[in-house]
Amino acid sequence: MRELSPSTQLAYSKFALHQDATQTFAGRRLVEITWSQFSQLTMILQEVFYVHRYSGSISLSSAALISSSYAIFTVVTYWFSTYVAPEEYSQPQCRTGIALFVFGEGVNLYHHFILSNLRTTGPNQYKLPQGGLFRYIWCPHYLGEIISFMGIALISQHLYVALLQVSSSLYLCTRAYNTKKWYKEKFGSHHERWCVFPWIF
Ligand SMILES: NC(=O)c1ccc[n+]([C@@H]2O[C@H](COP(=O)([O-])OP(=O)(O)OC[C@H]3O[C@@H](n4cnc5c(N)ncnc54)[C@H](OP(=O)(O)O)[C@@H]3O)[C@@H](O)[C@H]2O)c1
Repeated sequence: MRELSPSTQLAYSKFALHQDATQTFAGRRLVEITWSQFSQLTMILQEVFYVHRYSGSISLSSAALISSSYAIFTVVTYWFSTYVAPEEYSQPQCRTGIALFVFGEGVNLYHHFILSNLRTTGPNQYKLPQGGLFRYIWCPHYLGEIISFMGIALISQHLYVALLQVSSSLYLCTRAYNTKKWYKEKFGSHHERWCVFPWIF
């Protein structure tokens, strides 16, 4: 019904009387956020299908938990991102976020290729990863992912989205800590590297 009156019709068509800047701005925000979330999902899927040969399987309940958390995170990220007012939004910060996102995903992918090349004979083979940032840390692919999380926070510029990305980063840090423990048990303690942030953690 609101479309019948020029004063209440939605301001997105050629015949609309006024252009709602906030709405246009929110639309652009969605394009940038959709691009980053979609790229991240595409990267994960191509890693799973084309890069790695996994040694084990995953239970349906874990797969459902991971997929639904990812979906909820994506929707929440969209939702909050549209609440940033145009006058508070910084374009240079957004461009820095896009650059960080692309760089982080590149770091992630490069180290996934190093990991996948360790398996020459079969899926249950483990070797010490060498090259790239593996010289200093056990999980450079997680570091890459964390950099791209920071990129998403800068693209969104909403505090709650930033907090979500920090929580995902802490989750990856915990996995990196467990990975370091696992390498120590498997290959001995004389192979010393940081978990994920060189000289920090
Ligand atoms: N958004 C999030 O919250 C979130 C959470 C978790 C992970 N991720 C992302 O998902 C991606 C995969 O994470 P992940 O925890 O599955 O990585 P991962 O444990 O390092 O495993 C990746 C693949 O490499 C293999 N691999 C690892 N170390 C190896 C070694 N020393 N020798 C031979 N093969 C080895 C693994 O073998 P196995 O099959 O035997 O394990 C697996 O196939 C990462 O990019 C990560 O950042 C995102």
